[in-house]
Amino acid sequence: MTTPRKLHIKSYGCQMNVYDAQRMVDTLAGEGFVETASADDADLVILNTCHIREKASEKVYSELGRLRVAKEEAARHGREMKIAVAGCVAQAEGEEIVHRAPTVDIVVGPQSYHHLPELLKRAKANGRALETEFPVEDKFGFLPQPKPAAIRARGISAFVTVQEGCDKFCTFCVVPYTRGAEVSRPVADIIDDVMQLTENGVRELTLIGQNVNAYHGDGPDGRPWSLGKLLQRLAEIPDVKRLRYSTSHPRDVDDDLIAAHRDLAELMPFVHLPVQSGSDRILAAMNRKHTADDYRRVIDRFRAVRQDIAFSSDFIVGFPGETAEEFSATLALVTQIGYAAAYSFKYSPRPGTPAAEMRETVSATEMDERLGRLQDLIDSQQSAFNRAAIGTTVDVLFERAARNPGQIVGRTAYLQPAHVMASPDIIGKILPVRIDSLERYSLKGELATRSAPSPISSPVSQTIGA
Ligand code: SAH
Ligand code: SF4
Ligand code: F3S
Repeated sequence: MTTPRKLHIKSYGCQMNVYDAQRMVDTLAGEGFVETASADDADLVILNTCHIREKASEKVYSELGRLRVAKEEAARHGREMKIAVAGCVAQAEGEEIVHRAPTVDIVVGPQSYHHLPELLKRAKANGRALETEFPVEDKFGFLPQPKPAAIRARGISAFVTVQEGCDKFCTFCVVPYTRGAEVSRPVADIIDDVMQLTENGVRELTLIGQNVNAYHGDGPDGRPWSLGKLLQRLAEIPDVKRLRYSTSHPRDVDDDLIAAHRDLAELMPFVHLPVQSGSDRILAAMNRKHTADDYRRVIDRFRAVRQDIAFSSDFIVGFPGETAEEFSATLALVTQIGYAAAYSFKYSPRPGTPAAEMRETVSATEMDERLGRLQDLIDSQQSAFNRAAIGTTVDVLFERAARNPGQIVGRTAYLQPAHVMASPDIIGKILPVRIDSLERYSLKGELATRSAPSPISSPVSQTIGA
């Protein structure tokens, strides 16, 4: 038997990259690779990169500097280390990586991961290999190729890609260029994946896509299905206990999605719905094609069908030309909506995007100041939301043993981590927890005893039944 080769993947960026990294591991397992936690002893290191902001992209080159040293060290010990750059930087700057970083053997764009075994062979034969095309017909690698290694369960909660790419072209964003046009997977393929995952212990599915509610995959009836309809169908699968989806766009919230939130107990009442800004002029300059009021109305439609629904969002501060008043409109929107959580970023000009050509930039100090104020407001809303759980009893899906011995950790409907002292056989179950305290972002509590004993476990009812 040949010794397995070792693979180390480092992922940056969004959930899609996390999912893609898992698919790469599964694909390369078929080539005899096993995962290793350290880059130093790996035969193949993959950097799965993100291009969304300048800081994210720059990480690649500093990491490649470190890897070059590790590669040389391996060579001194007679061991060959291959280095691959995958993800959105590979897609956007593939040629540049080849020039700037001679240590890189393979550059592979997000649509070509299923070709990794082939690219490895090519790199061995030619020294290097680059593939960053958007092959339209096999965008997911699910059509003409044999399906990549079967999707493998890793715990209780899993991501499933349902669509990829974006046609929205917000003026600040690289995603339409790095991930290409919007493509949805057929419903049947998604059902297959979900069945396989639940058979292997998964209980919570997060459907992911750059623009997940633009989903319009072919349904079994030969018609395109909406995300709402897909969620409805997936909720029927036994053992699907919780459903989530991310990231959605305010413009694509249709009645099916609202109905799914009304009708499906499995669909968690926590929605990530980025708005970016509260100013209509900035929203227009961003090409978001919705106003702040449109967004408020979308939130109201969700709230009308699920009173307990909570929201998170993304914000950009310091978009070119953003005035102090326009920034205040963002603060006003946040105050009015009230978020359970939110991410906020300083605007970062990205090469090739229309906003990068806009000249009215906001000064670095002004950006820092705005970001600080926005983050303080979001933090106070998030802490208030978390504190409100204290003293209540909430459902928790338990995922794994926590770091502290004897503790098991799970998540509430709102993705808050919750810890209890309990036996590991609660993993995979949803149980009510009485929340006693909040430590930073994590809730602590005790399993709530059910008021009436269940007939099966109660010796009394067994006696009666016997
Ligand atoms: N598809 C999602 C999110 C894409 S990227 C959506 O439509 O909302 C995640 C977040 O990064 C964005 O929501 C935005 O807030 C932020 N972002 C994207 N490009 C950026 C840029 N050039 N500068 C700063 N933040 C950016
Ligand atoms: Fe980027 Fe806008 Fe598409 Fe989101 S909707 S991925 S922010 S272009
Ligand atoms: Fe980054 Fe690409 Fe995701 S740019 S955020 S890894 S789609």
